[in-house]
Amino acid sequence: MSDIKDPRLAPTGRERIEWAAGEMQVLAQVRERFDKERPLDGVRIAACLHVTTETANLMETLAAGGAEVLLAASNPLSTQDDVASALTEQSGIETFAIKGEDNDTYYKHLNAVLDLQPQITMDDGADLVTVLHTQRADQLEHVIGGTEETTTGVIRLRAMAGDGALAYPIVSVNDADTKHLFDNRFGTGQSTMDAVMRSTNRLIAGKTVVVAGYGMCGRGVSSRAKGLGAHVVVTEVDPTAALEAIMEGYRVMPLRDAARIGDIFITVTGDTSVIRREHMELMKDGAIMANSGHFDVEIDKGALRELGTGGVRRIRESVDEYTLADGRRLHLLGEGRLVNLAAAEGHPAAVMDMSFANQALSVEWMVQHHADLEKRVYPVPPEIDREVARLKLRAMGVEIDTLTEEQDLYLHSWDQGT
Ligand SMILES: NC(=O)c1ccc[n+]([C@@H]2O[C@H](COP(=O)([O-])OP(=O)(O)OC[C@H]3O[C@@H](n4cnc5c(N)ncnc54)[C@H](O)[C@@H]3O)[C@@H](O)[C@H]2O)c1
Repeated sequence: MSDIKDPRLAPTGRERIEWAAGEMQVLAQVRERFDKERPLDGVRIAACLHVTTETANLMETLAAGGAEVLLAASNPLSTQDDVASALTEQSGIETFAIKGEDNDTYYKHLNAVLDLQPQITMDDGADLVTVLHTQRADQLEHVIGGTEETTTGVIRLRAMAGDGALAYPIVSVNDADTKHLFDNRFGTGQSTMDAVMRSTNRLIAGKTVVVAGYGMCGRGVSSRAKGLGAHVVVTEVDPTAALEAIMEGYRVMPLRDAARIGDIFITVTGDTSVIRREHMELMKDGAIMANSGHFDVEIDKGALRELGTGGVRRIRESVDEYTLADGRRLHLLGEGRLVNLAAAEGHPAAVMDMSFANQALSVEWMVQHHADLEKRVYPVPPEIDREVARLKLRAMGVEIDTLTEEQDLYLHSWDQGT
């Protein structure tokens, strides 16, 4: 019933899943408890996530808790085929994901996991939830709750809740401090630069890297690019974020100015049509564009195709070269899809450990509390967020101070001043 590329890839996938597990000690502790307590016994979960080694560890944790899980890819290009095989062949988790699948197959796979009549949806970008509400509303009666992994998904779900369209409560895992402060920032930062380097093998030192969007992901990408010796230029639409970028030492300017000087452009805004034709027309010969935001709408691919009248070729794996009428060449990485997953392996396991511990614990919380919840987006309960931080520190062997009784009293009083 699964749909994967090749079942024979399972042994390689297994080794890579184990390698990731080596840095996922928080999730391992959750898994150990789930194994004993079986808090998800019989719960049907439809998951739509990037099919990576870290996701495999999450799927196996949910299964250890007693859940019946089906997994589909949350992006046509982010699937690691060996992982999909290991999950299906060895873990009993039917997976519907093939790297490079076309749009029709992508949606066929979302529908396949919805056939499970899920009680919980676990989504990354809200495509699964949208299909469920728009085309598979017949399945809604079984659903008690869900979780959402990323900024873009949370924005869509809040819009749905605002319109009164959301049919069940969803926990925004992205909003946990132990998620976005680490995953979006250090995870996206490192893996995006990894993808740019793997796919191009260009030297970053001395280059001008233009980062569009200085949110959690943009902070990470900018700091990693700077650390590699790049001159970083930030473009923003939010005045406070722009100020922060300036005081962090980056140059800030409109994209129409940055377009002339950038060597490498990276979008991480969660917005649409950020790099447009008018910007591409100004770019230098050899400019490289990559997107690390959730959807492939940040770089106007249609405009790039129109401009590429001199021909298009795949010059390296994950690098498409568009030649303009005047001979200039512009390069697009990973077909404009989130580059850290399309052209590299996504976030390192150490940050996904925290994101996915939040996922697993939020599902448990949803199973326990769904009857008392409204049809809206909930934050991860702060006690779960803090517990994840505590467990991560313990796993890293780091101790911290605790408040003395006097300090505790002081911090909770209002009558002690100068
Ligand atoms: N690649 C990954 O693995 C990964 C991981 C986490 C999040 N994401 C995705 O990355 C995107 C950004 O996430 P985030 O958590 O940083 O969001 P965020 O809300 O913290 O930051 C987005 C920033 O982009 C700015 N922005 C919006 N439109 C812009 C425009 N036209 N030009 C310049 N700046 C603009 C906003 O003002 C904001 O400061 C989302 O789509 C999110 O889902 C990707």
